[in-house]
Amino acid sequence: MNSKPIVDLEPTIQDHIREEAPERCPELLSASARERALERSFLGLYKWYIDRSQRSRLYSPDRSFSWSKFRKDHSPEVLRILEGFYAVEQFNPDVTGNITHVVRDSYGRGGFQVSWGSEEMRHSDLWRNCLLASGQRSLEWIEDYTDTLRRNEWTVPWEDPTRMLLYQVVQERATQLNYLHTCLIAKGEKRTTSHAPDVDPVLAEVARVIAIDEAAHYNFFLEGARLLFYYKPEETAQALIDVFRFYAMPGRDLVPDYAGFARTLSECGVFNVRQHYVVDTLQLILDNLGVDNLAALDEGIKRCRLVPDVDGKLRETTLFESLQYGKIEDSVKNLARRINAYEDESGAACLHRTEFVPNPNVPGRPRAEE
Ligand SMILES: [Fe+2]
Ligand SMILES: [Fe+2]
Repeated sequence: MNSKPIVDLEPTIQDHIREEAPERCPELLSASARERALERSFLGLYKWYIDRSQRSRLYSPDRSFSWSKFRKDHSPEVLRILEGFYAVEQFNPDVTGNITHVVRDSYGRGGFQVSWGSEEMRHSDLWRNCLLASGQRSLEWIEDYTDTLRRNEWTVPWEDPTRMLLYQVVQERATQLNYLHTCLIAKGEKRTTSHAPDVDPVLAEVARVIAIDEAAHYNFFLEGARLLFYYKPEETAQALIDVFRFYAMPGRDLVPDYAGFARTLSECGVFNVRQHYVVDTLQLILDNLGVDNLAALDEGIKRCRLVPDVDGKLRETTLFESLQYGKIEDSVKNLARRINAYEDESGAACLHRTEFVPNPNVPGRPRAEE
């Protein structure tokens, strides 16, 4: 900190001013520099993701599964679950188009959403094939059901890219759990309420493959959330609180008798609120993000001590008491290493290499001259 006397002021007043002066790092990043670092990281993450997806997760909804061997006597509960999964995927064109519009300013995020949409359509194709292969739903029934569903349009719950990304973190994790537990039913490791024999290797493979896609989606959005927390901690913390507070699964207001579908999921142990949503989804996300406690994070934002940043904006400091910022930084560094390994191996590094850009703008961090 500057130790030269402040001209024409009493020494005690000079001391007082120095004590009250905000902590600032001389090398603070401007908002635009942080935005640039964020966007470059998203672009690197998108390219890494696409490369991995195309090399390790390619499959055909028609060719890759033995549809003729699909069980024809599944229980009513499993049929209800398959119908519900199919129904939710019918809003993919809306979800892809409307979210892509929200993130269209970002090359990496916009590109990812378009590719994400094509992967989600594979899921729709697979659930449709399951219904047809079950022998219990005719083509005409499926067409009528599809028409009914598509009369409604899914709209974004948030117009803000940060909140939408956090929304997708929750949605992807919850969806992954749905398919993992369905896979357990098809493997005979979990029974539906009617205790019917629903063992079906084809259904197990379908659910397994989709769950792997959902895990990859979750990972992309989780890494994105870490990047946002790293470069925009205050804004992202508030967004996380909002999304957790008002989250609702997509399709809840659009699918006929969604409550009955949700009840079946819960009764069959596929997805219930207490364990699968609160513990295995929300709590896991907080752990993955390095957020100790959401209530404490909320409180930290409310009783903040404000200091100005390099752009003159007032920043909150108590927020960082409930956020493991070092853990987030380690994750962002790891992501940069992973992206660099891909860029080196693929040859993309000769065009551009995504450098890790440290964010020193965290109140409470030691200043450079100390
Ligand atoms: Fe999906
Ligand atoms: Fe997904």
